[in-house]
This record gives sequence, structure tokens and C-alpha cells, in this order.
Amino acid sequence: MTETLTLPPTPDGLARAADLLRAGGLVAFPTETVYGLGGDARNDRAVAAIFAAKGRPSFNPLIVHVPDLAAARTVAVFDDRAEAVAAQFWPGPLTLVLPLREEAGISPLVTAGLATVAVRVPAHPVAQGLLRAFGGPLAAPSANPSGKVSPTRAAHVLAGLSGRIAAVVDGGACAVGVESTILGLDGPPALLRPGGVTVEALEQALGTPLPIGGSETRPNAPGQLASHYAPGAAVRLEVTQPAAGEVWVGFGPCPGAALSLSESGDLVEAAARLFHLLRQADEVAGDRGRIAFAPVPETGLGRAINDRLRRAAAPRG
Ligand code: TXA
Ligand code: MG
Repeated sequence: MTETLTLPPTPDGLARAADLLRAGGLVAFPTETVYGLGGDARNDRAVAAIFAAKGRPSFNPLIVHVPDLAAARTVAVFDDRAEAVAAQFWPGPLTLVLPLREEAGISPLVTAGLATVAVRVPAHPVAQGLLRAFGGPLAAPSANPSGKVSPTRAAHVLAGLSGRIAAVVDGGACAVGVESTILGLDGPPALLRPGGVTVEALEQALGTPLPIGGSETRPNAPGQLASHYAPGAAVRLEVTQPAAGEVWVGFGPCPGAALSLSESGDLVEAAARLFHLLRQADEVAGDRGRIAFAPVPETGLGRAINDRLRRAAAPRG
């Protein structure tokens, strides 16, 4: 058990966080999507510690975070398609799966031994500041115990990982609120996870419809486990008429709903609030309680929101 420090997002706080990372420690930090649990991506022990702190199955590979495209090119091989989407969407909530550059020295634990690597350039100023202060690639899954709800505030990180990590840099609430979109470009383009960049925007950039990973074209991204983001309470979806005793979470006009993703039916607001609301609803419902979500349209950010809700509602393993 270590005492987990809460560091401010100041130059001093980031310098302290970078020192902890250089010593092989784990530091959670805000990105525009969710808080990440960072460790030196070149250090096997640091990466192993990430899996241990999260209780994560080690076959599930991690995303490598770098400050800019130039740094990303040292980790992965970029073709013309990858250059084009990176130029358009980075920094931002998009992760690219590309062929790994062996010489980058990324720990094989990060890639789970695959010949590909997932890379991303986060847009959050605190993530940028930390990456630059540290001066190397950071492996960073979401900073929550494996299978649980992702953190969008420093307090969420501490609720799940306090005593198991060296520090969290407190940068306030995350603006996007769902994880990055994962685009496979190590072969024909494939959507491996819907997220903060919409499928519509990617299809327009690529000029082709985007098949979903796990179709005939390619195997599933490892770690796309069905039950995930699981609160303590049971979750039911597409509910327009809640049952007695259910905590109803609305979207748009839902008279009588206890909580709301967005009263005006705004998907951007709904994504930003999703994980915090899952936690709040869980507290209101209690461990044997039930949470019911109103329908959310399957367009734009609604795809990422519904993906997370379906996993939250999936049978627990
Ligand atoms: O927004 C995000 O992406 C956040 C923040 C912290 O950046 N990170 C995040 O990481 O969501 P994580 O570990 O929770 O999700 C990583 C996903 C996993 O589903 C994993 O299977 C996939 O990325 N992944 C990583 N490397 C891969 C690879 N080489 N091929 C296919 N999928 C990969
Ligand atoms: Mg996660």
C-alpha cells in the first residue's frame, strides 16, 4: 500500500509527476476523454504494475500516448492514410492501430506481443504538459479497476485506485467523457471501438464506409470484453417506462426521471456526463438496485454512448 498523492496541474506538480514516472511509478492524469493511468511504456516493470493496479487481464494491450505526430512516427509506421487522419484529428480523441516500430523499445507487455501498436496524441493541456515534462511515451489505460466505470474526475480515480498508484494529477472534469475512437489502419480501415471522434467524421475523412472490427475482415480488438463499465446495480436500456424502484436516467424530455444525461437531448453533453452519472445512479440505486436508461440515438457520439451502456448492461462474467 502506497499513499497516493494528489498533484496540482502546475509546472511543479507536473515535474513531480514526471519524476515519479521516471522512477517507474504510476501516475493518473486527465485527458480530454477520461483519466489515464500512466506508466513508462518502455519499462516492463512499470507496465506490469499498470496491469496489477487495474487487475487487468494481461492479454489486453494498452494505448501509447505521445505529445505529437513526430513522436508517434517513432513508435509506429505511418502510411498515407494514417498521416491524413492524424493530421486531421490529432491532437484529439482518436487512437490509431498501426504496425509497431520494434526499435522504439516499447515494452512487449504494452502490445501484448502483437506486431501492432495503438497510439494516440491527447488534446488535454495537462496530458500534453505531462508528456513533455516526462519526455517519453506513456502507456495509459483508463484509470479504473478493470471492468469498472471509467473515471472522468480525479475523485473517481481515487475511489478505485487510491493506495495502488503513486499519484493523480487533478485537472478537473474531462470534457469529452467517453474514450477515444480506435481506428485499425494496419490493414483495411476498421472501427475497433466507437469513441470521441464520430464514425461519420472518420468515414468522411477516409472516403469509405468503416466496417466494424471483428467482422470477416479482421479479428476483434483484444479486450473488447462484453461486460465492462459495470456499476454495482443492474442496468436496463431503452427504457421509456421505468418500473417501480428503478432509478431512471433520462435523455431529452423524460418527466419524472431521477437523473438526466442531457435534458435538452444533446449528445455532447450526454457523453461528457455519462460515467459520472453511472456512478451517481449506482449510489442512488445501491448494490441490489436497478438503473434504467432512456433511449439514446445511435448517431454521432450516441454510438460511443450506447456502446458503453450496452457493456454496462451486459451479463456479468
Ligand atoms: O481515451 C482513451 O483511449 C483512454 C485515455 C486514457 O487515453 N484510454 C483507454 O485505454 O481507453 P484502454 O486501455 O481502456 O483501452 C485500450 C483499448 C483496448 O480495448 C485494447 O484492446 C485496444 O485499445 N488496443 C490496444 N492496442 C491494440 C492493438 N495493438 N490492436 C488492437 N486493439 C488494441
Ligand atoms: Mg478502459
